[in-house]
Amino acid sequence: IDELLRQGVAGKRVFVRADLNVPQDGTTITDDGRIRAVLPTVKALADAGAKVVVASHLGRPKGAPDPAYTLRFAAARLGELLGAPVAFADDTVGSAAHHAVEGLADGQVAVLENLRFNPGETAKDDAERAEFAARLAALADVYVGDGFGAVHRAHASVHDLPKLLPSYAGYLITTEVGVLERLTDDVKRPYAVVLGGAKVSDKLGVIDNLLKKADRILIGGGMAYTFLAAQGKEVGISLLQEDQKERCAAYLREAAERGVEFLLPVDVLVSPEFPDLKTKAPTNPTTVSADAIPADQEGLDIGPETRRLYADKLADAATVFWNGPMGVFEHPDYAEGTKAVAQALADSPAFSVVGGGDSAAAVRTLGFDEKAFGHISTGGGASLEYLEGKALPGLESLED
Ligand code: 3PG
Repeated sequence: IDELLRQGVAGKRVFVRADLNVPQDGTTITDDGRIRAVLPTVKALADAGAKVVVASHLGRPKGAPDPAYTLRFAAARLGELLGAPVAFADDTVGSAAHHAVEGLADGQVAVLENLRFNPGETAKDDAERAEFAARLAALADVYVGDGFGAVHRAHASVHDLPKLLPSYAGYLITTEVGVLERLTDDVKRPYAVVLGGAKVSDKLGVIDNLLKKADRILIGGGMAYTFLAAQGKEVGISLLQEDQKERCAAYLREAAERGVEFLLPVDVLVSPEFPDLKTKAPTNPTTVSADAIPADQEGLDIGPETRRLYADKLADAATVFWNGPMGVFEHPDYAEGTKAVAQALADSPAFSVVGGGDSAAAVRTLGFDEKAFGHISTGGGASLEYLEGKALPGLESLED
């Protein structure tokens, strides 16, 4: 983007593919981290006199307009953060979008409605995606890719559009890639990785690669129970991906062969019922050994002994990557595990990278100062796929 700014963008229509996929509760954005993350790019372009057209997806609507997934509120928040009015077009390539872009004076910003309201954005069919990309291209002279959280998606606005316009990487993508490079090349050791979250299948690819790079892997959250089950333990009614058990067992064996410390919870908080995240009504969790989860109970957070163990294992690490909460942190009864990991990273001099929408949101909503961490990534799946060593369509198109 610095190169683009050097060439001059005054009067040019610049399409910024952002990732404004933020959590919202009705009309309220509950974590605006991803909006703030794209501000440097939007501001620099606006200050240089560009007509800035910001586009993003939000959620996973089914290729048609759906008010539950409007970008209207994210656009309003972007305007507040910029301290300038932001126009909002309630379509992506239709008359509202054209009208909004034509109405921009130099240095002004417009946000288009959710790209995924159009089936062409996510279409598997190349021609359908290309056709949508061409309609987006008609709205701009230049493309800036800055939606790091979506670079792993081969979608029209991420993968096809940059091939149709002169294209540049924005500040966010450049920063994120720079940070992830520090986790892949010449990483400072000990290198510890903390993985949590619900879906073990989403994380297995990254474990595969990290077993070759990390010194320690600490597992928590919903995915821990499939590993515990793979060790032959009873996990009660905890989240379990039966079809992944064998692969988890193979990773445990591989970790032992490679001398990678692979830590699973030694105790967990259990309850017979999943807590109500809306009312946050108190539940009555019990702490049990990970060897003795009762048949009618569900594991919902790591226990106190595991919290201490994991904090110890993080205390002397030089590099830490953390993706995924340790428990159902949205409910106060099950937030301590996630807090303990966040606290251990905040207290440590290690270069720590927090990735993934949930862990990044957890750090912020649990009241931690973002500055206590080396980097809070806006990418969940994107940073995982980067660390898996996969080619990312949104980066490949920009490199082309
Ligand atoms: C994310 O939240 O990880 C990105 O915005 C990508 O969203 P997606 O998983 O719906 O493609």
